[in-house]
Amino acid sequence: MINVEQIYTAESQVDSWETIQFLYRSAIKEVGTKLDILNDEFQHIHKYNPIEHIKSRLKTPESIVKKLKKQDYDVTIENMVRYVHDIAGIRIICSFTSDIYNLAEMLGKQNDLKVIWIKDYIKNPKESGYKSYHMLITVPVFLSDRVVETKVEIQIRTIAMDFWASLEHKIYYKFEGKAPENISKDLRACAAMVAELDDRMLQLNEQIKALTTEADGD
Ligand code: GTP
Ligand code: MG
Repeated sequence: MINVEQIYTAESQVDSWETIQFLYRSAIKEVGTKLDILNDEFQHIHKYNPIEHIKSRLKTPESIVKKLKKQDYDVTIENMVRYVHDIAGIRIICSFTSDIYNLAEMLGKQNDLKVIWIKDYIKNPKESGYKSYHMLITVPVFLSDRVVETKVEIQIRTIAMDFWASLEHKIYYKFEGKAPENISKDLRACAAMVAELDDRMLQLNEQIKALTTEADGD
């Protein structure tokens, strides 16, 4: 098996941006299918969906070039594949924090997926207050004559974390990363409220589950 980087160092015949896009798009489909199956199986066994919804995207060429330049790398396809880890991105939105860890564990156990790294910004939130669970994985994409291990960045977060992150993202762009201190402070306060809300919703759900199990036992 080869990885996408090797295509660009070893195989000169495959050198187009089109191929890259095709591979990453296929990788998104592969992971998307895995997630659909996990969600359906969960529904089948536990009568419950851990996934609220999924968003996926292919990073635009402009945004890839911007990221390379920011890190002082030459703009080559080889560097894109090597240094830009989020060309293929999938965001999974769950109801409860527990769903996040369940899903991450289920994904980690699939032996065709390789986990490259995990960044747990739920246990260790960013300075901004950002919370989310990130996994960088590779998934094999089966082509007619070879198998290519392709990177996908997976972000898993609750609805509340996602709500916070989308507002913070807007503010970040609006102020080009230099938001006034009172706004940053308010955002951090909101992040604390998000964490509190997630905890309480989880506890409520646990109580409901306990009551339902009791009722079922009668
Ligand atoms: P990039 O942000 O992708 O350049 O890399 P990084 O080194 O910050 O990697 P990290 O895994 O921390 O973040 C990857 C992605 O997570 C970003 O592209 C965003 O989608 C998201 N993210 C990270 N930090 C924040 C944050 O403070 N606010 C928001 N809204 N999103 C964030
Ligand atoms: Mg970042």
